[in-house]
Amino acid sequence: MKIVPLASDSMGTRSMATFVETKDCNVLIDPGVALGPYRYGLEPHPLELERMAIHWKNIKCHAEKADVFVVTHYHYDHHDPDEPLVFKNKTLLTKHPKENINKSQKKRAAFFLEQLGGLPKKIEFSDGKEFSFGETLIRFSKAVPHGTNTRLGYVTEVCVQEGKEKFIHTSDVQGPSLEEQVQFLLDEKPKVIFCDGPMTYMLGYRYSKKSLEMSVENIIRIMEETKVKKFALDHHFLRDLEWNEWMDKAYEVAKKKKVKLMTFADFLGEKNDMLEARRKELYGVKIKKKGKIKKKRKKKKKGKSRRKGKSKGKGKTEK
Ligand SMILES: [Fe+2]
Ligand SMILES: [Fe+2]
Repeated sequence: MKIVPLASDSMGTRSMATFVETKDCNVLIDPGVALGPYRYGLEPHPLELERMAIHWKNIKCHAEKADVFVVTHYHYDHHDPDEPLVFKNKTLLTKHPKENINKSQKKRAAFFLEQLGGLPKKIEFSDGKEFSFGETLIRFSKAVPHGTNTRLGYVTEVCVQEGKEKFIHTSDVQGPSLEEQVQFLLDEKPKVIFCDGPMTYMLGYRYSKKSLEMSVENIIRIMEETKVKKFALDHHFLRDLEWNEWMDKAYEVAKKKKVKLMTFADFLGEKNDMLEARRKELYGVKIKKKGKIKKKRKKKKKGKSRRKGKSKGKGKTEK
């Protein structure tokens, strides 16, 4: 099995797009890329826009080679309704558009499916199901909360199995801090994991210290109770320049268990390049007073879409 990260926060954009190649089929998980609309009160830097275009090109290039697409939920960093042709003659395994879904994602799911029309060869709703392609099995968790609660809806975690080899992509679990998110990983016991790590860049207001503690505990538990060899944490976690510092305990266990705890960029053998987290530095801005940031953010709230593709006024960020 060959696993290739196509775009992610450690690579400079908001995404978890991943390509998986087995002897039976090519699978593209979450073909989408976006940018944080405002960070530190600043709009995306031109370097981020440039990176997003490169990542989308990379996704599109792999999309041509893909037989099966997986969409884990309907945020714009995980799918793009303005690019329906990408799915032409492909099999799409997508999050159930009506069950276990919040209002906003339900609306987006309906729009996405409408945009697709009859283009895909087949569309299946994936939650809790298993699909086979030759000897390759693609299994989904039941819908689990997007993050620490269901305010942002639900996602599906996905396991690709080829023989005894298993890979899991967790989608946006932001941790994982919840038992129901961890269970799928403990049951499947994959060798390679791509996981959305804790949302520490919002620690203390949208992400609690308790959730961070639970996440670290669960990451350790996964290393102790599964056969994971490569464990990549990325996405929300890599929006924090100090992300590494929260993982001391996990690194100790990783060393003992000989697990490579890494990011998507590390997985590729590339340098971490967290453009959003570095946005202030990219602009050469020194913002000292928090009040000033708030003021700027408020004023710019009605900005353009920072999602990849042409904006038709459907959402200004991935959320
Ligand atoms: Fe999401
Ligand atoms: Fe996401």
